[in-house]
Amino acid sequence: MIREIVVYPDKRLKLISKEVCSFDDTLHELLDDMYDTMRSKNGVGLAAIQVGVDLRALIINIPLEDKEGDSYGEEHDANDQPKENTLEMINPMILEKDGSEKFQEGCLSIPGVYEDVERAKHVKVEYFDRYGEKQIIEDDGFLAIAIQHEMDHLDGKVFIEKLSFLKRKKFEKEWAKRLKA
Ligand code: CO
Repeated sequence: MIREIVVYPDKRLKLISKEVCSFDDTLHELLDDMYDTMRSKNGVGLAAIQVGVDLRALIINIPLEDKEGDSYGEEHDANDQPKENTLEMINPMILEKDGSEKFQEGCLSIPGVYEDVERAKHVKVEYFDRYGEKQIIEDDGFLAIAIQHEMDHLDGKVFIEKLSFLKRKKFEKEWAKRLKA
């Protein structure tokens, strides 16, 4: 079921999400709904708080046709993101991160805005899958960026907070204008 996406500057996006304690049907329904919601907007990732649920859960589905140089959060065709390719991360924790890379990012909570953001190039992350099994994943590409972007949401952060002062100011002005329109 498609849920409503929380749009910036909704205060819920600032919440620190809580640890998931039960890996039950309610969690599975949330994850399934998050996939439907993400797909409905052709997104590549979504955190639970973006559908108003303050739990440490996120999903990522990197399109099959993804090419080098694509920006994170850019829209993609359906069929390119089969559900079985969805990475579901519950209570993720960064074990290692190093290097740095600039990448253009976007966010379903700030639709239509794409900006360069600097993040670690490589991350190693421990998380639980929907059945509560501990998993470890490591990446130094698009997925590493996606994981860091979505994990920020769990701590109440959005990517535009990483922009320079001037770029942020410009964004806020344009965003306020857009919300009024
Ligand atoms: Co986002």
